[in-house]
Amino acid sequence: MKILVLHGPNLNLLGTREPEVYGSMALADINDKLIELGRELGVEVTCEQSNHEGALIEILHEARTWANGVVFNPGAYTHTSIALRDAISGIQIPVVEVHLSNVYAREEFRHVSMISAVCKGKITGFGWKSYTLGLRALVEMGGS
Ligand code: DQA
Repeated sequence: MKILVLHGPNLNLLGTREPEVYGSMALADINDKLIELGRELGVEVTCEQSNHEGALIEILHEARTWANGVVFNPGAYTHTSIALRDAISGIQIPVVEVHLSNVYAREEFRHVSMISAVCKGKITGFGWKSYTLGLRALVEMGGS
């Protein structure tokens, strides 16, 4: 089983970006933890990040050819991007939406997600562990 972990805009700044909201772990350290967990669970984890909506869409299209599932934190595009939503419905592999922060405990504009309805499920509010929970969920479901 192969899993893509995909991070959207501004998540490259994790560690220094609003640590009181997003924690102090850098993106590279989160990715290392996920690759390590993947090894324990017997799945291959590949991590990618982009600040660009179109690049995220292309990465999702490509994932259709090799991944059994995607753990996806679209950052602020969560709240705005119909194009990402259409990409997720178009690729027909399970996508789990994850957020470090609890988006429902924050500003109202973060309560809206363009992608939740086309994702398998959603995990929000557990810091970097939202990603590990998302990965475990995909593995337990068996992927595509
Ligand atoms: C986020 C929540 C979004 O509202 C925000 O724009 C982000 C990060 C999270 O992981 O908590 O960039 O997706």
